[in-house]
Amino acid sequence: MTPILDVQQLSKKYGDFEAVKEVSFTVEEGEVFGLLGPNGAGKTTVISMLTGVLPPSAGTALIGGYDIRTQMNQAKQLNGLVPQDLALYPTLSARANLNFFGQIYGLRGKALREQVEDVLRIVSLTERADQPIETFSGGMKRRINIAAGLVHQPQILFLDEPTVGVDPQSRNHIFESVQRLNRERDMSVIYTSHYMEEVELLCDRAAIIDEGHIIALDTIENLIGLLGGGVIYLGLPRVDAGLLAQIAALPAVREALPAEAAPLGEGEAVAQRETGAKVKVVAEQSQQALVNVIGWLNTQDIPLTSLKILEPNLESVFLHLTGKTLRE
Ligand SMILES: Nc1ncnc2c1ncn2[C@@H]1O[C@H](COP(=O)(O)OP(=O)(O)OP(=O)(O)O)[C@@H](O)[C@H]1O
Ligand SMILES: [Mg+2]
Repeated sequence: MTPILDVQQLSKKYGDFEAVKEVSFTVEEGEVFGLLGPNGAGKTTVISMLTGVLPPSAGTALIGGYDIRTQMNQAKQLNGLVPQDLALYPTLSARANLNFFGQIYGLRGKALREQVEDVLRIVSLTERADQPIETFSGGMKRRINIAAGLVHQPQILFLDEPTVGVDPQSRNHIFESVQRLNRERDMSVIYTSHYMEEVELLCDRAAIIDEGHIIALDTIENLIGLLGGGVIYLGLPRVDAGLLAQIAALPAVREALPAEAAPLGEGEAVAQRETGAKVKVVAEQSQQALVNVIGWLNTQDIPLTSLKILEPNLESVFLHLTGKTLRE
């Protein structure tokens, strides 16, 4: 099957600064694909190039076979963009805003009316449709912003951090809308976020992007699998090969390696760390490994001077790959 989106070595320079560096990935029809990365990673720049907001500096992408460098008008008919920043008219009603966006895409009359009602239903805001946007909560504005990106029935929807600053109820509505669009209409979705839980929940596959590079790309399961069943950092008075071998032989432990230091967690300062030897334990199953390791250290009278557990999730994978947290 030909992918709906085929991104080829896409790069973007702002002056001398290379914000996106030879990014390549494909998205299949009906797939929900995540772009996960910290602030400034280049997510919005990638989306802006794919949707015709910014021209690429190098590379290209095919959307439904249309080249974004030469056939952007055709590609735009297939694309829906929900930008990170709201693009709505505050004094106009939700319905009037959606009518406006529909008209931009050439919808008129009955087709326009039907589409506007349909997208209002998708984001569950039919009841508020005649009130001005300025009376909406932040989450409701986001949901109308999403509806605006859907009004021309795109085959591929670009959602740029749609849940930032959104209340939990609207957040759930957004998740449900994405899942429903994907399931019932087979819409492909590109979902950017720096919330790993969202990407884990919604996406089939994801690319982890940092400083303009894709540093990992796989199914969520395989990305998390990079960490085995979790990683445990132990601080011990001293470490030698014999001790590492004994830890590695414990049940639920896959590997025990000498480690420089555990990556810093959120809000953790370098000064808070004590010196001493560190062991990185890659677990088959982190909780069982922890019980076994601590039990064994007790029997050997070896004190534990520090402990840090990386759960097997995308946040830990990012920490493992970059030494940084996603939200710093
Ligand atoms: N118009 C611009 N001119 C110069 N530099 C820019 C411009 N837009 C973005 N950048 C820089 O390019 C890099 C990537 O920015 P981008 O907005 O794509 O990141 P992002 O991953 O979307 O981040 P966030 O999660 O904060 O939205 C950043 O270092 C940013 O400062
Ligand atoms: Mg952004």
